[in-house]
Amino acid sequence: MIGRLNHVAIAVNDLTAAVAVYKDGLGAQVTDPLPQPEHGVTVVFITLPNTKIELLEPLGEGSPIAKFLEKNPDGGIHHVCYEVDNVIAARDRLKSQGARVLGDGTPKIGAHGKPVLFLHPKDFCGTLVELEQA
Ligand code: CO
Repeated sequence: MIGRLNHVAIAVNDLTAAVAVYKDGLGAQVTDPLPQPEHGVTVVFITLPNTKIELLEPLGEGSPIAKFLEKNPDGGIHHVCYEVDNVIAARDRLKSQGARVLGDGTPKIGAHGKPVLFLHPKDFCGTLVELEQA
């Protein structure tokens, strides 16, 4: 059911410092910061030849990555994002298998303008999984 790895997301406390690590240190192409108030994060994407890295910084009160960064003050891998052909069909299949979909299960529009859903880490090997409609 899942297709390509769309991105790996890394949560950080300081986006400017993280961009410098990837841009200046690792010589990567980095997009301009994109505030995503609906998701409580500011995002930049690093384009690699075969996938992307998403750097996330908390935005506003109650950001969904605030707790993660309390536990991981240096930052860390926050989620992986897989592409699916149909996010609603994927959700219904996973729910019928007992997997937990975060929130009310209604896809939100993600940073690429496509519908996304998040799956509970306890059901997926301890890793928060994002599904994005391809
Ligand atoms: Co993501």
